[in-house]
Amino acid sequence: MAPLAQSVLVTGSNRGIGLELVRQLAEGPDPPQYIFATCRDPEGPGGKTLRDLAAKYPNVRLIQLDAVNLATIKAAVQVVESQLNGRGLNLLINNGAINSHDSLQSVAPQQMLSVFSTNVAGPLQVAKEFLPLLKEAAKEANMEGLSCSKAAIINMSSLGGSIELGFGILQAPMYPYRASKAALNMVTRCLAVELQEVGILCTAIHPGWVKTDMGTEKAPLTVECSVQGILKVLSSLSQATTGAFLDWEGKTLPW
Ligand SMILES: NC(=O)c1ccc[n+]([C@@H]2O[C@H](COP(=O)([O-])OP(=O)(O)OC[C@H]3O[C@@H](n4cnc5c(N)ncnc54)[C@H](OP(=O)(O)O)[C@@H]3O)[C@@H](O)[C@H]2O)c1
Repeated sequence: MAPLAQSVLVTGSNRGIGLELVRQLAEGPDPPQYIFATCRDPEGPGGKTLRDLAAKYPNVRLIQLDAVNLATIKAAVQVVESQLNGRGLNLLINNGAINSHDSLQSVAPQQMLSVFSTNVAGPLQVAKEFLPLLKEAAKEANMEGLSCSKAAIINMSSLGGSIELGFGILQAPMYPYRASKAALNMVTRCLAVELQEVGILCTAIHPGWVKTDMGTEKAPLTVECSVQGILKVLSSLSQATTGAFLDWEGKTLPW
């Protein structure tokens, strides 16, 4: 079985879905040559499990990246570029995000802006800064079509960002979070349209409602199960699914 991609970068990989993505990629039957596991504070207490993984698997490289701090994104690009040594980056997974449960009563402009900064501006800036390395990977692949093994940007979205399904908001208002994921979906579609001609696939994925700090213990899905599904979906992506909004089982979701 061919690896999903030779080089993969994951943001927010110190816990939750990001950490499990790195773990399953590293422990899979055909692991990528490079797994760039990025997080805000790799040396801090929250990075311990990720540090242990990196100590066990030499292809897991720990890199600092805070999606709202441009200097750290640029520094991460430099580290990745030097480690890839002239080769491109195949797969960027914009996973890191924050939640906010603010209702109409509690929401304040600062909260909206802070969530947008992390969940929308952050992933877009990360994609923009890694674009030269993604383009390089697409060029090297020298093949028709689009895929994660060639060059791809995956944005971790949420069903909560679906405008069509938004009538359920009274159960969970989350104005900043829902609006940010709807915006991230639009960013994904714009990137997909603009980057398909340079051979880069862009897709938004909803991981399901998952037992993580964000999803809480009430969630029905384990992180292992969600990530197994996500990795299977990623390996199936093609020209037909660039710009799509899919869930962890590959089902198309309403915008
Ligand atoms: N869990 C669910 O049920 C669910 C459902 C739908 C969508 N999602 C989406 O799936 C993704 C992963 O969620 P999760 O459940 O694993 O969440 P989580 O357990 O809360 O983990 C969030 C991750 O994002 C990181 N992060 C926060 N701000 C960041 C920033 N500025 N730059 C880089 N990383 C940052 C966190 O790092 P720190 O440790 O430094 O805070 C952490 O690693 C998110 O995009 C989320 O919106 C989750």
